[in-house]
Amino acid sequence: MRVIVEEHADAVAVRAASFIAALVRRKPDCVLGLATGGTPVGTYRELIRLHREEGLDFSQVTTFNLDEYVGLAPTHPQSYRHFMQVHLFDHINIRPERTHVPDGRALDFEAACAQYEQRIREAGGIDLQLLGIGSDGHIAFNEPGSSLGSRTRLKTLARETIRDNARFFASEDEVPRMAVTMGVGTILESRRCLLLATGRSKAEAIRATIEGPVTAQVTASALQFHREVIVVLDEEAASLLERREYYEDVERSQRLYEQQIGRFG
Ligand code: F6R
Repeated sequence: MRVIVEEHADAVAVRAASFIAALVRRKPDCVLGLATGGTPVGTYRELIRLHREEGLDFSQVTTFNLDEYVGLAPTHPQSYRHFMQVHLFDHINIRPERTHVPDGRALDFEAACAQYEQRIREAGGIDLQLLGIGSDGHIAFNEPGSSLGSRTRLKTLARETIRDNARFFASEDEVPRMAVTMGVGTILESRRCLLLATGRSKAEAIRATIEGPVTAQVTASALQFHREVIVVLDEEAASLLERREYYEDVERSQRLYEQQIGRFG
């Protein structure tokens, strides 16, 4: 894993957006895996700025979101489809039919999940998967104990996640108890992963993900098996890492390397 530590959350957003923008410029018809929640909002804001001010073109980009709450209509203010419209899609030139969010109100979830996986395959697979992390170490809604080979399916949310996400709802009771989520196995098949974390509440999960053993109790730790993961953290999220110096040395080497052979793309 490549671990980058920025001073604060705004710098994390700019750095994350720069990786995504580099890919979109290099491969205009790329497939992006997207996340919701508080963490990527700044990254989406920066992508919108790059679109408006620097002409970053999303017209051929295809997207697949990680997850959606069960029972919420796409127009529900707390649905992840609505989140994506408000925080990104409505402000860039992406074609609506190229954006995909799992259906939280499918009549046959098994069929809908299989179809979601099929659509990802038909699109050629995900080039870059953006990820946040739960305070319990989940990626997407793969809660502790999820199979590390899991595919898109229904998942019951952990109480910690319900408590964490209650801030987006009027009360904890209103948080849906289930979600449709890409599996850990689905995420591991993406060509690159870009994991973001900000704030002290993520520090323990980040330490376990990067420096702990691979375990289904921290599903983000399965990223240790992925061959191309970039983790961008702020100081608070990085505060419990023990091998900071080494990550900084790697970044220095990476910068030298990029100067010689050209930038990430
Ligand atoms: C959202 C998702 C979740 C969040 C995680 C962190 O699509 O897949 O795994 O990334 O719960 O949420 P925030 O960013 O709100 O702390």
